[in-house]
Amino acid sequence: MSKIKIAIQKSGRLNEDSVSILKDCGISIDNGKDQLKAETRNFPMEVMFLRNGDIPQYLRDGVVDIAIIGENVLIEKGKDISIAERLNFSKCKVSLAVPKEFVYNSIKDLEGKKIATSYPNTVNEYLDKQGISAELHQISGSVEIAPNIGLADAICDIVSSGSTLFKNNLKEVEVMLTSEAVLAVSPKISNDNKKILEKLQFRIKAVLKARN
Ligand code: PRP
Ligand code: MG
Repeated sequence: MSKIKIAIQKSGRLNEDSVSILKDCGISIDNGKDQLKAETRNFPMEVMFLRNGDIPQYLRDGVVDIAIIGENVLIEKGKDISIAERLNFSKCKVSLAVPKEFVYNSIKDLEGKKIATSYPNTVNEYLDKQGISAELHQISGSVEIAPNIGLADAICDIVSSGSTLFKNNLKEVEVMLTSEAVLAVSPKISNDNKKILEKLQFRIKAVLKARN
């Protein structure tokens, strides 16, 4: 029998909530986390634990059939990937922030400035729409330290509680988008696996309803 391949975040903010929504759907993962691939009991599913940023490409290539991923990652590099369900957890914003002492009136104040981010496409699109050009520095983590070490004038990153901004003496000045975890689907999913996906979605809908 066919098994649906699902990608979930290997480590990080989505990992735990992703495992727990599957659990609430009655799907328990056999010794997850330590392995990159795990089987599930009582549902035709295989789980792959992957890096967030790699998941859109795996979906595109059909290496995995579905994924639980932050919508913000799809907006950055998976606009062609479709969303089957919004999952109502891991809510966050993707925002622009500047040092507290930066006198910020409008986006025009970022003209020609250096911006450090892990979300270059999202930032570029946002700035383009407003007719602003800035110098982007792409870094893959700990973005909020960039202004303090003289690498950038501003940053763009995920804001959840806001504590990382606060600790790094930054203030949020523009919210570019809001995001939550979603169930994304590969364009290459087979008809057999589409049927399994329907069953999973049925359970997810029931779980989300019960949570509300
Ligand atoms: C993420 C994100 C922000 C922070 C936001 O970083 O990149 O820095 O969380 O959360 P907060 O508003 O609740 O502080 P994470 O700690 O996951 O690590 P990384 O930047 O190294 O990927
Ligand atoms: Mg961070």
